[in-house]
Amino acid sequence: MRMVRPLLLASLLLLLIPSIEMKRPGKGRGLKGARHRLTRDKVRGTGRHGRSRASRLVPSSCSESTEAGEVFVDCQDRHLSVVPASNSWSQLPKHLLLARNRIKFLRDGTFLGYEGLTSLDLQQNRISLIEDGAFEGLTELTTLLLQHNHLGTLTEEALIPMPKLHYLRLYDNPWMCLCPMESLIRTLQLPSNRNLANHARCAEPLRFKNTKLKQVDPEMLCKEFDPAIDQQGDQTDPSGPLDPIPFRRQDATTLCHTYFFPQVRMDCSNRGLTEAPTGIPDDVVQIDLSRNSISHLKTKSFHGLRSLRTLNLSQNHLEHLDTGSLSGLLHLRELDLTENSLHFIQYGVLEDLYFLSQLKLGGNPWMCDYNIHYMMYWLRLHSGVKHSGLICRAPLDHAGNSVEEYVHDYNRGCPNERKPSREDQEQLNTALEVQGELEEELEPSHLRKPKKYEIIRLS
Ligand SMILES: *[C@@H]1O[C@H](CO)[C@@H](O)[C@H](O)[C@H]1NC(C)=O
Repeated sequence: MRMVRPLLLASLLLLLIPSIEMKRPGKGRGLKGARHRLTRDKVRGTGRHGRSRASRLVPSSCSESTEAGEVFVDCQDRHLSVVPASNSWSQLPKHLLLARNRIKFLRDGTFLGYEGLTSLDLQQNRISLIEDGAFEGLTELTTLLLQHNHLGTLTEEALIPMPKLHYLRLYDNPWMCLCPMESLIRTLQLPSNRNLANHARCAEPLRFKNTKLKQVDPEMLCKEFDPAIDQQGDQTDPSGPLDPIPFRRQDATTLCHTYFFPQVRMDCSNRGLTEAPTGIPDDVVQIDLSRNSISHLKTKSFHGLRSLRTLNLSQNHLEHLDTGSLSGLLHLRELDLTENSLHFIQYGVLEDLYFLSQLKLGGNPWMCDYNIHYMMYWLRLHSGVKHSGLICRAPLDHAGNSVEEYVHDYNRGCPNERKPSREDQEQLNTALEVQGELEEELEPSHLRKPKKYEIIRLS
């Protein structure tokens, strides 16, 4: 053993020399820089000509990044028709994002060289064929996303190279539940594989249409069926042995696009939603619900989403937020409510948002009457919250003023330098009472900041 060590050292040194030398000539970043330049030059040199060659090249636009010590390669939305070779990157990625490209086939050995990959996102491509050896070498892979593709069949063999696979998404593919799928379906149905392919459903044959892969009776898959009978079934009423799929309204998992890395993020923007979707996964960190038509946010719309940090509800038609509509969002940091139809925020709506730091409120017709006091009061108690866009649009007296100013003037009893009328005075008293009540209710919580101002009674 002792003899081996100097030898080992020597050979290690020898191995190191080339990389040291590579660093010398360029101002670049050694091997990294060299590879980077190589890719760039290749793209420049041939990118415009020769389609067949160009398709093999790596688009220089994929981005490489490191987060929490893990290397990500992001090639989403890059018009790729093939998986870039593993030597395209300066470091081997742990996470490879290839969603929304134009990949049609995964041939044997496609991911050779990608050992160490733990997650692979291939959703929203056009994959119709996966050869048995396509995932060869992905021994560390835990997450494989293949939803929204054109797959009709997949064999169990294709999954065998990935012993650590823990999350597999196969839904929204036109699965043909026939004999070649038998072993795969049996595997998916093992209790230990409860996270694999949960929502995938058969598209064919008719007798299994819309049945979940998890629920198909594997005994039936390889049974000889008289094609004539199945054909006949095609023309008659498809009820009977068929499970009708329950119509799941506005379900987030099918409607929205979910990104799993670097954190769970859902893009539900511009989906024609008229209410908050159901089925939002518990571990979601960001949801974008902007540019929909939600007008009323109901109690417990986001129940149980304890990881949620950013909620974007901008450009909806929101007029009303129920008191409990944001309840449970204990870790929300950023709430975007811009460009809605809100006149005020009802008492209690903001109560769970202990960690809010950004509140965007612009583009709403804020009504500067006493209903608005709750929000101002809450904001004062949570002075760490940066807010924007709180401008009165009505009544005319206050239009264009900041709500803060309005409330300030109101509390000093001289809104717009005029004496309060009796009506105003009554309203003021009510407002002060409401504030008093609020104070009592809010006071005991240890999470609140001590109040920094006092209410001056004028009467
Ligand atoms: C919310 O969505 C809108 C429109 O899609 C976008 O302009 C805005 O920046 C988003 N807000 C946040 C906080 O990400």
